Amino acid sequence: MASATSPTLRVQVDDNERFLKLKEMFISKFGSPPKFYVRAPGRVNIIGEHIDYCGYAVLPMAIEQDILAAVEPLETQVVQLANTNPLYLDFTANAANIQIEKTKPLWHNYFLCGLKGIQVELAELCAKSERYIGTEGGGMDQSISFLAEEGTAKLIEFSPLRATDVKLPTGAVFVIANSCVEMNKAATSHFNIRVMECRLATKLIAKSQGQDWRNLLKLGDVQTKLGVGFEEMLTLVEKILHPEPYSREEICECLGISLQELRSTILSQNTQDVCSFKLYQRAKHVYSEAARVLQFKKVCDEAPANALQLLGALMNQSHASCRDMYECSCLELDQLVDICLKSGAIGSRLTGAGWGGCTVSMVPADKLTGFLASVRDAYYKTDGQRLGLPKKSLFATNPGGGALVFLEAEKM
Ligand code: GLA
Repeated sequence: MASATSPTLRVQVDDNERFLKLKEMFISKFGSPPKFYVRAPGRVNIIGEHIDYCGYAVLPMAIEQDILAAVEPLETQVVQLANTNPLYLDFTANAANIQIEKTKPLWHNYFLCGLKGIQVELAELCAKSERYIGTEGGGMDQSISFLAEEGTAKLIEFSPLRATDVKLPTGAVFVIANSCVEMNKAATSHFNIRVMECRLATKLIAKSQGQDWRNLLKLGDVQTKLGVGFEEMLTLVEKILHPEPYSREEICECLGISLQELRSTILSQNTQDVCSFKLYQRAKHVYSEAARVLQFKKVCDEAPANALQLLGALMNQSHASCRDMYECSCLELDQLVDICLKSGAIGSRLTGAGWGGCTVSMVPADKLTGFLASVRDAYYKTDGQRLGLPKKSLFATNPGGGALVFLEAEKM
């Protein structure tokens, strides 16, 4: 991973309500003050969904909202974790023997993953660490968290990891809206099934083109090997793959391998028993979405008069492709996108893995107040469970800074 060190900032903890509350809680739990604080921002992916693990560039920004942790290094092997939210229980583990229970959505698992990752290797630390939870993510979240800079989104390219500024258009704001549908990527196989479908599509395309398919894992790798553009790849997908789902038997036959070999050398642990794979639709999504990311950046760079319309259209096409080809949306996300568009957004789409979670919408700055009110009425106020949530679940955000270490400043 490119520069994974975080900057340090002095903070007057006693003058800052959020830090002070955290410090006081830390003292009451552990009996001594924290030695330092760490922030990691949230992120929103503006465009480029489910393509990072296929080797393609994505276009996220860090947001201003963040997670703040207070830390005190200890001499012992014991790791003690506590959360300011009483819903999440205290947890203690032995650093020398970390066990990660993947079947339940336990908050402290993500911390343990980081710890386990440090113990294994420092390079590409965070993206790799996430895999201990069981998901085969592509590294977008960790990269933007470290490489973000206030005021700009980034084009994140992989292998080698690079981040280039993307100046978002003036005159529009990005609004995040939570669908309030939760999806635990670690305890379900939805996410990894998609990664495997892309992997299998890679191998079938590569084999048909006489490439070394055994050593190719990503749709991006096969494009690089063939040295052709996105249009050619989309044509190739239509020629080589069929829209009907593939059975395991058909895949084994195409690749000339046994079911045992498919399971042990290609499929992940939690996709061993999946019987049917949609390769055509997934590959079509990935190649078209990867092309959209580059078009989005080009429009941002060139800033033509109709930039907002062009960018909005790309976001809308991205959502349609996620919904219809990648099938990573859900009813509520589709409804929310619809409501956002009707409320004045120029573009709206699911963001992140999908199957729940949030949407990101591009809204003309002068329409923001009306937009928020309209989405609040149509999505949050119509549902008892969402009623108390609009404040936390619906907000505009600017591109925020990256992960940071805070040290308590001397009192003035
Ligand atoms: C999750 C993963 C990312 C990326 C997105 C989908 O957030 O952690 O690596 O694959 O889904 O774009």
